[in-house]
Amino acid sequence: MQVKALKTFLTDFHESVRRLPAIVKRRLHLAGNVFNFDQLMSLQITSRLPETGTSIFTVMSRMALENGAINLSQGFPDFPISAKLIELIHKNMLAGNNQYAPMPGVPALKKIIAEIVKETYDRSTDGESEITITAGGTQALFSSIAALIQPNDEVILFDPSYDSYAPSIKLNSGVPIHINLNSPDFSIDWDVVKKRINSRTKMIMINTPHNPSGSLLNENDLKTLEEIVLKYGIIVLSDEVYERLVYDTHQHQSVLKFPGLASQSVAVFSFGKTFHATGWKVGYTVAPEYLTKEIRKAHQFITFSVNTPVQMALAEYMQDRDSFIHLGKFFQQKRDFFLQQIKGSSFEVLPCHGSYFQLLSYKNISDKTDVAMAEWMTKERKLASIPVSVFYKDKSDDHLLRFCFAKSEETLHKAGEILKKL
Ligand SMILES: Cc1ncc(COP(=O)(O)O)c(C=O)c1O
Repeated sequence: MQVKALKTFLTDFHESVRRLPAIVKRRLHLAGNVFNFDQLMSLQITSRLPETGTSIFTVMSRMALENGAINLSQGFPDFPISAKLIELIHKNMLAGNNQYAPMPGVPALKKIIAEIVKETYDRSTDGESEITITAGGTQALFSSIAALIQPNDEVILFDPSYDSYAPSIKLNSGVPIHINLNSPDFSIDWDVVKKRINSRTKMIMINTPHNPSGSLLNENDLKTLEEIVLKYGIIVLSDEVYERLVYDTHQHQSVLKFPGLASQSVAVFSFGKTFHATGWKVGYTVAPEYLTKEIRKAHQFITFSVNTPVQMALAEYMQDRDSFIHLGKFFQQKRDFFLQQIKGSSFEVLPCHGSYFQLLSYKNISDKTDVAMAEWMTKERKLASIPVSVFYKDKSDDHLLRFCFAKSEETLHKAGEILKKL
């Protein structure tokens, strides 16, 4: 009782001090360092994500900035986006389209996405009931997991995996089941997958084109996946944010191309990737109505809706298919330019068939861990990359670094000069 009274007294006193104008606090020397009330009064919180610290992308980008290094670590373009798209957003803002969009997305945008899905994957979808506009791919993934799994459901994911997957599963009380992709080609061992399936397996997450490896799933992979999920009644959450970044003679294999698979899948896309505008955070899900209904229940309480003028502008901009149809060629040229710049270096180049990431092996250069190598290169050679081990739960280290080539030729040339000297 006495403890409770003391706590109440301290809380009231703390509140009175907090409300004093800053000038009075200064005069009375009542700055926070006199009484550390926050610490005294703080509750004991059990973290939902005890192993999670600052993301590697933030760490490496900060390190790049502090050391004046070229930043090929975080996956974002350093060249301008379309001036026409900016004009369209401006036009929509001036026209007063600045209030809440409809919860599932602006109808014109959902309609044009449905048209493009039909043209690209030969799948008929109803924009109104099967497409939901989200705050980027990340929220699309999170909302899908939040809506579709129950506590203790198992979700299979493949490492190396994008850093939001496991935390999103855990925050929704699911259990991430990590399976490592095969080395060195980052393919899936479907026999291992079959062995890990049990009555608690609710979802399998795939990512193609793949971050960080630049690998692709092929038609056989998708057919095998289809067989498995139809047999066991499992939902597929398919991260296809790099759908248009596919190179050489390869084709993107979307879950939307396979009728059985599409009937149990949520496909996730991102305009940030397609239109070089990662800062806008606009993406979408395509899923059958019975899944979309549930996803929207989560979506409406996670963000409710997504920014209106950007949605309206995108709907108009994509009328012209040239706005995105040549994206693969554009990034293939970037990849080839980057590889040209590092020709003759001691790094070993791994195949990159998609995404805007190139893996390089430094096993002929150093036996440092990949984290130590990335740090050393940022600080001592002024070039930042991402160590691939951070994408693994078991921190597998194959001496690989990930470089983002969505950069201007000038940046890529400078990076090449550094890499060639190592
Ligand atoms: C594989 C993968 N999925 C999802 C995302 C997130 O997309 P968005 O920025 O649209 O949230 C990224 C971003 O880097 C990614 O690489």
